[in-house]
Amino acid sequence: MAKIIYGGQSYECGENSVLDCLTAQGVTVPSSCHSGVCQTCLMQAVDGEVPEKATAGLKPTLAAQNYFMACSCYPEQDIEVVLPEAGTGKLVARVTSVEYLNSDILGIRLKPTRAIEYKAGQFINLFKDETTARSYSLASVPALGEELFLNVRKVPSGLVSGWVFANLKAGDGITISEASGDCFYVPGNPEQNILLIATGSGLAPLYGIVRDALLNGHQGKLSLYHGSYNTEGFYLVGELTELAQTHRNFSYVPCVSEEQAPAGYSSGMVLDVALADNPDLSGWRVFLCGNPDMVNAARQQTFFAGASMREIYADPF
Ligand SMILES: Cc1cc2nc3c(=O)[nH]c(=O)nc-3n(C[C@H](O)[C@H](O)[C@H](O)COP(=O)(O)OP(=O)(O)OC[C@H]3O[C@@H](n4cnc5c(N)ncnc54)[C@H](O)[C@@H]3O)c2cc1C
Ligand code: FES
Repeated sequence: MAKIIYGGQSYECGENSVLDCLTAQGVTVPSSCHSGVCQTCLMQAVDGEVPEKATAGLKPTLAAQNYFMACSCYPEQDIEVVLPEAGTGKLVARVTSVEYLNSDILGIRLKPTRAIEYKAGQFINLFKDETTARSYSLASVPALGEELFLNVRKVPSGLVSGWVFANLKAGDGITISEASGDCFYVPGNPEQNILLIATGSGLAPLYGIVRDALLNGHQGKLSLYHGSYNTEGFYLVGELTELAQTHRNFSYVPCVSEEQAPAGYSSGMVLDVALADNPDLSGWRVFLCGNPDMVNAARQQTFFAGASMREIYADPF
């Protein structure tokens, strides 16, 4: 049975991940998603082999230095691991503004102290302290300015979102990670139609992706559907309406599911409305972000409507 060596101690790993094994022994390893997505649980192997799955999605430069994600690392042989040197893959950013986009969602603008490479729609991790971080999607577009733009929804009793709402203010310095994730626009097929569906702050990555696609001269349809129970749940309505007025291939459809829809809004669940408007998705690219139940149902139903699985990009949160 494989052993994990950490801090001069040896632990039986059993069927557990490195993260579960070490945290069960009282070792503090930062973590968030526990599913190999956010890269908060980054560790480094100083001896032994890292299973390939534990490096999926990591920058090749990090993987080449034996960094890996502890939550998806199930070692088959003994492995000696360390926490990354303070600062690896992290940087400081200055908060330039904090504003309410609606009563539940804050728009946070950040200026990193050094340039970071990213694509609109990817995510960064925002650290509340040394060991507590959560992922937030980038609604900004690199070509439009150096500030990063995040949309943070308040989660009841949420550790990091609660801290953001209670404490974060312009002028603060915070620690963030480099960007990662595969939910972004790839140029090269400018005539392809693109369907984008979001609920809540799932709009953040899609707001970035739409503007990035338009900047890249995308010609195919860009059809954005944003769902909310009531009209108070929408935000960036003015910006999106203006984009739709100035780009004939972009449409923006806010969908209200539990209230009478006023003029300019559609009535119904966002996925139902999007599929009723676009019943044949053969050859389309699809982006799905927000509520995990919506995203999982949409992944299935857009596939049944003809979209290829490899053309469906999703960030459930
Ligand atoms: C790739 C990715 C991108 C993301 N992008 C964004 C983004 O752009 N904007 C954004 O607001 N969030 C985003 N998230 C979600 C974010 O990372 C956090 O999970 C969220 O802010 C909750 O963290 P917290 O520390 O406030 O709550 P926690 O302390 O982690 O959770 C508190 C309680 O709320 C429950 N809970 C956790 N998450 C949710 C939820 N989403 N809805 C309802 N209950 C919940 C937990 O089960 C727990 O009981 C993203 C997540 C991922 C993986
Ligand atoms: S906690 Fe391991 S990748 Fe998110």
